[in-house]
Amino acid sequence: MNNADTDLRISSANRGTKITLQVDGVPCTAYEGETVHAVLLAKGIRVLRIAGKTGEPRGIFCGMGICYECRVTINGVPDQLACMTLATDGMQIETR
Ligand code: FES
Repeated sequence: MNNADTDLRISSANRGTKITLQVDGVPCTAYEGETVHAVLLAKGIRVLRIAGKTGEPRGIFCGMGICYECRVTINGVPDQLACMTLATDGMQIETR
């Protein structure tokens, strides 16, 4: 699921400055200080890629840079860890 209107964040929380990035070509709002992982979860995106050997969906597992299950393409660079990368304004994130 990825549409511009989905936002699963707690609405009352204080956040950093609002930024805009793209997830799979869809513009979305994020906030400075959020990881790419947090942005994707807020958009309801849980499947980040499909495992090459098994064809199984893969997504966030450890959330701390150990398992490498959260690899996405960021600004054209493949295999970046969503859980360890801070979202920045204008960033282009590709899943799958
Ligand atoms: S979720 Fe395990 S490395 Fe990112």
